[in-house]
Amino acid sequence: MHIASVGVSKSCFLFSLALCSLLLLLIPALQSPPRQLEPPQPRPHAKSASSEQHANLPTGTASAGSTNTDAGLSRSSEVIAESARTDVPSPKRNVESWPRNTDQLELKDIFIAVKTTRKYHRSRLELLFQTWVSQAKEQTFIFTDGDDRELQLKTGTNIINTNCSAAHNRQALCCKMSVEYDKFIESQKKWFCHVDDDNYVILPSLLRLLSSYHHSQDIYLGRPSLDHPIEAAERVKSDGTMSVKFWFATGGAGFCISRGLALKMSPWASLGNFITTAEKIRLPDDCTIGYIIEALLEVTLTHTHLFHSHLENLQKLPVPTVLHQVTLSYGGFENRRNVVSIVGGFSLTEDPTRFKTVHCLLYPDTEWCPKLKPGHTN
Ligand SMILES: *[C@@H]1O[C@H](CO)[C@@H](O)[C@H](O)[C@H]1NC(C)=O
Repeated sequence: MHIASVGVSKSCFLFSLALCSLLLLLIPALQSPPRQLEPPQPRPHAKSASSEQHANLPTGTASAGSTNTDAGLSRSSEVIAESARTDVPSPKRNVESWPRNTDQLELKDIFIAVKTTRKYHRSRLELLFQTWVSQAKEQTFIFTDGDDRELQLKTGTNIINTNCSAAHNRQALCCKMSVEYDKFIESQKKWFCHVDDDNYVILPSLLRLLSSYHHSQDIYLGRPSLDHPIEAAERVKSDGTMSVKFWFATGGAGFCISRGLALKMSPWASLGNFITTAEKIRLPDDCTIGYIIEALLEVTLTHTHLFHSHLENLQKLPVPTVLHQVTLSYGGFENRRNVVSIVGGFSLTEDPTRFKTVHCLLYPDTEWCPKLKPGHTN
C-alpha cells in the first residue's frame, strides 16, 4: 500500500515535471514575435544621392539642421514613430511583397492637384488651361479659395473651392492640402500628384516616371529644396518639443505619392487631421507631407531631378533635356527672368514663361501653335 502510493506520487511528480518542461518549451512559440525589439532597418541609399546636384539651391521656409547622418535621422524617426503609435492607430508597415508592375498605367489613373488662389485665376491658370491642362482635363483638379463660375464653364475643368483663406500662410496652405488629400482619396485614382499654378506638367514624362513604380508600393517622389534633411521641433503631448529630422519634396516643384502610401497617411492627413499634424511641427504644407511620410511612416523620399520649381536657376537646364523633365516653372529666381532656355515658335516677348513654346514642341498639332518652317530659328 505504502510502497504503491509512493510509486504513484513519484510517477505523478515525474509526469508534472515533464508537463511543466513541455509548457516552458512551448511558451516562446506561443508568444507573438517581439516586433518592437527588432533592430532598425538600414535606411535605403536614396537619401544622400542628390546632395551635390542641389548645391546651388536657396534655403527653404524653415530652419534646417546641418548634419546629414542617416543614423541620426533614423533614430529620431524611430522615436517619433514610437510616440505616434501611442495616440493613433499604427498603419501597417514594412510590406515587402507588392505585386509586380504588370498593368499599364494610364493618364486617367493620375490625380493632378493644382494649388492656386483667386487672384491668379486670370494671370496664371489661363496659361495652364491653354497648355498642359487641356491634355489632362478629366484628371486635373484646381484647388482654389474662391468661386469662379465663368472659368469653370469656359474651361470645363474641375475647379474646387476649398473655402480656405486666400492668405499665403501656413494655415491656408495646409487647409488646401488637406482638401486635396481628401479629394484624391475619394477619387480612387492610383497616384496623387500635387503641383503649383506656375508649373508646367510634361504629361508623357510624368506617365513614364510613374510607370516604373506600382501604386501599391510606398512611393513618395519629388525634389528636395534643401541639400540636407530639415530639422523641426515637434510638439510632444505633455510640454516641450522634440527634434525631428526628415527630407521633404518642395511643393513648388510638384511631388507625387502612390495610393498605397497615401492610404497609410490617413491617420495624420484625412478629414482635417492634416491641419492638426501641421500645427504639431508648425511647418508649411509640403514639409508636413514629408514629416508624415518620412518621420512618422518611415518611408523614404525618392529624390528626383525631373521636378523643377522657380527656386532653381531654370536657365541652367540643358536644352536637349527640357522636354524630358516632369515639371517646369518660371520666374522668381534672383529677380532675373528665370525661364527654361528653349527655342521654338514664340519669342520671349510672346511667351515670357516659355510654356507655350514647350507645349508646341510637345503637341505641334495644337491649333494655336505656329507652323514652323524648316530651318526656322528664333
Ligand atoms: C465650400 O462651401 C460650400 C458652401 O458652403 C460647400 O458647398 C462646399 O462643399 C465647400 N467646399 C469644400 C471643399 O468643403
